[in-house]
Amino acid sequence: MEIRAPGPGRAIRPVRRGHPADGGVMTGALRMAAIRPFHVMEILARARTLEAQGRDIVHMEIGEPDFPTPPRIIAAAERALRDGDVTYTPAAGLPELRLAIAGHYRDRHGLDLDPRRIFVTPGASGALLLALGILVNPGDAVAHADPGYPCYPNFIRLFDAVPEAIAVDGAEDFNLSAGLLAAPRDRHLAGLIVASPANPTGAILAPDALQALVSAMASEGGFVIADEIYQGLEYGVAAETALRCSDQVFVINSFSKYFGMTGWRLGWAVVPHWAIDAAERLAQNLFISAPTLSQRAALAAFEPDNLAELERRREVFARRRDRLLQGLAGLGLRIPVRPDGAFYVYADAGALTADSHGFALRLLEAAGVAVTPGLDFGRHRPERYLRFCYTAAEARIQTGLDRLADFIRRGVA
Ligand SMILES: Cc1ncc(COP(=O)(O)O)c(C=O)c1O
Repeated sequence: MEIRAPGPGRAIRPVRRGHPADGGVMTGALRMAAIRPFHVMEILARARTLEAQGRDIVHMEIGEPDFPTPPRIIAAAERALRDGDVTYTPAAGLPELRLAIAGHYRDRHGLDLDPRRIFVTPGASGALLLALGILVNPGDAVAHADPGYPCYPNFIRLFDAVPEAIAVDGAEDFNLSAGLLAAPRDRHLAGLIVASPANPTGAILAPDALQALVSAMASEGGFVIADEIYQGLEYGVAAETALRCSDQVFVINSFSKYFGMTGWRLGWAVVPHWAIDAAERLAQNLFISAPTLSQRAALAAFEPDNLAELERRREVFARRRDRLLQGLAGLGLRIPVRPDGAFYVYADAGALTADSHGFALRLLEAAGVAVTPGLDFGRHRPERYLRFCYTAAEARIQTGLDRLADFIRRGVA
């Protein structure tokens, strides 16, 4: 088989050939076989097709705030664009943004952070890549909760390490614990990724439970990556930053969710002092810098007026959550743990279906309601669960609940 380069007819050798029995078709790296797609994308694509056909769809599938980026952030971006402030920044980020993030930890958590420990990244996704790149060796076992954010195991595999999914149930408040970590297992754990508040459950770790996890990993010489992307979106229960437990944890965070800037692709990592040099080298190589326009825009994120706007939005999320919880409970969906953070409800639909994926597809087709099946979040009883995002207006959520009620009543489920 010959592959032609786009140039003037120059032939290049294929990187990898498939088995001759497959016609010598070129394949990717072996690890790609283990990298899984998001099922929610299938739901979203079908929802868009139905919309293009004129159907009205209630979207509760995508974990993205429905609010527009706050006006002060837009204005800061417009200024930067006008002034032509769009060249690369230092790899670790704009110094003034790193200072502003340090100020955020001081104001919100009463913590004094050395800004040199803060690395501005392309989203929390970039921060996770940076942290794993610094910490993980091939073959390492890295623990994470199941159900949990689907990228964790995929990112771990990307580094030729081994995801160690730890099943968490309603009985454990959907949270990892030092006790669960201590259970006998085949491999020694090299590290742990833990999220609070968590996706898809909205669960928040109590400060003592978080401390116990961090201490348990430290006593084994393991690392902790704490994903705090949903911090700020808390309803009545405060989420603690893992930086309060130890200065050895890697914390990742983002402007995507609480600050309403998903498409701006901006986040940050806080690394221990010993990792500053490694983070600097890796950030240079991976990203050169995070998007400059987004960094300039994010400088406005911590202004008091903007924070007041975010607080108003948080209160709206809280009301939506209550409406959704009440509605779902009345329809026979069990909510094992009251979600105290993020914008998700992880509902047990086991009384209605033994196949939540099929249920989600039928719900979309028959009732025009898009939700995410548990399958996206791991292997621990996913067929029972559905994730509902309250990233839609309260009236739309009510429409979704009414349609769901009708769908169940008609027996289509
Ligand atoms: C738990 C969690 N971590 C990280 C991310 C990545 O977010 P981003 O790269 O937009 O900051 C997401 C996105 O949904 C998430 O839910």
